[in-house]
Amino acid sequence: MAGALSGKSALVTGAGMGIGRAVALAFAREGVGVLVADVNLAAGEETVGLITQAGGEAVFVRCDVTNKEDVQRMVGTAVSRFGRLDYACNNAGIHTPAPVPFPDLDDATWDSLMNVNLKGVFLCLKEELRQMEKQGAGAIVNVASLAGISVDPMDTIYTASKHGVMGLTKAAAFEYVKKGVRINAVCPAPVNTPMLRSAPMELQNLLISMLPMGRPATSEEVAGAVIYLCSDVASYVTGTGMVMDGGVSLV
Ligand SMILES: NC(=O)c1ccc[n+]([C@@H]2O[C@H](COP(=O)([O-])OP(=O)(O)OC[C@H]3O[C@@H](n4cnc5c(N)ncnc54)[C@H](O)[C@@H]3O)[C@@H](O)[C@H]2O)c1
Repeated sequence: MAGALSGKSALVTGAGMGIGRAVALAFAREGVGVLVADVNLAAGEETVGLITQAGGEAVFVRCDVTNKEDVQRMVGTAVSRFGRLDYACNNAGIHTPAPVPFPDLDDATWDSLMNVNLKGVFLCLKEELRQMEKQGAGAIVNVASLAGISVDPMDTIYTASKHGVMGLTKAAAFEYVKKGVRINAVCPAPVNTPMLRSAPMELQNLLISMLPMGRPATSEEVAGAVIYLCSDVASYVTGTGMVMDGGVSLV
């Protein structure tokens, strides 16, 4: 279990399943010590079990990314366990896959999506950047979406939240460009995760029919991009949103 990132440390939010779990497993395969954060205790502990069974190092912290104290505890635990925080993947997010006409969009849905998808990334970035600035080094990847660049036809509020994540990514990258910290995002089209599989079947089929590759991305494909963006191979890359859309943007 060792690669180019060997001996470093990382935290991953929403690491109990889906993309977050794949990112946590990919970091561990590289020899990175991983803090697995999730609001779902059982799912997060299962991810830690998968990592430790494979010989990797991981610790679980229950963290709701919308809660400032949880986020502070998450970063504090990473630093006390591993001595520093080299990488962070702000992945936790939610979706409400059902097209709703604009005037019928409701405030409660706005609040919950913006809280998790945008404020959650904001709170995590603040704590991670505080630590990485002290170290003079670090790399962060926010999991945005293709909906951070174009439109998710199923979800207007999700689209707005992910455009917000791209704005935060660029603003933070600009502010930290001379401080040794790189901040990027990944922007995948549909990914085969519990989130996608929980959508009504006809919506899943519609989404997949729009994909030139004829299939959604795998979580492992997204994790590969996160590892690349954290690695020194991407040392000149900051403030970008890496589009991973299987060719959607071509048509
Ligand atoms: N699946 C897709 O098609 C797709 C495409 C593009 C982008 N994304 C983005 O990727 C990220 C991960 O999505 P996924 O498909 O793996 O989702 P998922 O629903 O399969 O898993 C999300 C994980 O995040 C956790 N989580 C939810 N709210 C949380 C909170 N407040 N605090 C901490 N953890 C929380 C859940 O418990 C779960 O373990 C999200 O930001 C999502 O918007 C997903």
